[in-house]
Amino acid sequence: MARYGVLGDIHGNREALAAVLGALEARGIREFLCVGDVVGYNADPDECAAELRRRRVLSIAGNHDLIGTGRLDFARCSNKAMHSLARTRRLLARDTAAWLGQLPANRVVEEEIVLVHGGVRDVEQYMTTPEHILQNAAYFGADFPKGRVCFFGHSHQQRIYSVEQDAVREIEAGNGRIELEKNKIHFINPGSVDAQRKQRHKLAECAIFDSVGWSVEFLRLPYDAASTEAKAAVFGYRMNALTDRLYSVRRRLGRVFSKNLQDSGRGTGIPR
Ligand SMILES: [Fe+2]
Ligand SMILES: [Fe+2]
Repeated sequence: MARYGVLGDIHGNREALAAVLGALEARGIREFLCVGDVVGYNADPDECAAELRRRRVLSIAGNHDLIGTGRLDFARCSNKAMHSLARTRRLLARDTAAWLGQLPANRVVEEEIVLVHGGVRDVEQYMTTPEHILQNAAYFGADFPKGRVCFFGHSHQQRIYSVEQDAVREIEAGNGRIELEKNKIHFINPGSVDAQRKQRHKLAECAIFDSVGWSVEFLRLPYDAASTEAKAAVFGYRMNALTDRLYSVRRRLGRVFSKNLQDSGRGTGIPR
């Protein structure tokens, strides 16, 4: 039983991670949970992984961690993500890759707390609608019968949903402590530590979960986003408009090529 700092979608953003960990530690938090996507998009994947390892953060693998270490392909990610992850694959330290490589797809903490990245059974699913939550509540009940709260990431939005049978209610993720009803299942996204791609604000997001009082609190913290952006540009994590168009053409050609193969009967069984 503890108060946990819950974070995820760090995406190699060292400045945002430092802001989050500093704020959580100032609040007396010593236990941390991470819902994955430690790497991708920004220039400090090794440093971010080292910070998590130093604090013995209980982490799982996000899709960027899987793609960045070659365990998942680029098929379902955007051009921006693909470009930065190709860079991550080239520059990632061996030691970091080995650590990322042993992260599990999910984790159970104190029997009732479960960490997943995207959906309960699909690391690349975005859970953004009540329908997604209901579908995943069914998977959650089947896969984690003792689970009461499911922390997830991937959508990069601070959200909290309560589920009771077939009813899903979204609870306002405002300031202050939110008490959870123990007789309901909750799906909670702590938000994204990395905020470089957010238009509205550049604030690093995380949450505090109290497994004694069964409550959650959302935090948003300023960080040095200009430094993060400058490093990402210098080290090749940002693509220009021409590269973006080239990737899109390559994907279209790839689809046509693969369709032609399937039409001729040769595509069956070819791994993607
Ligand atoms: Fe992410
Ligand atoms: Fe993700």
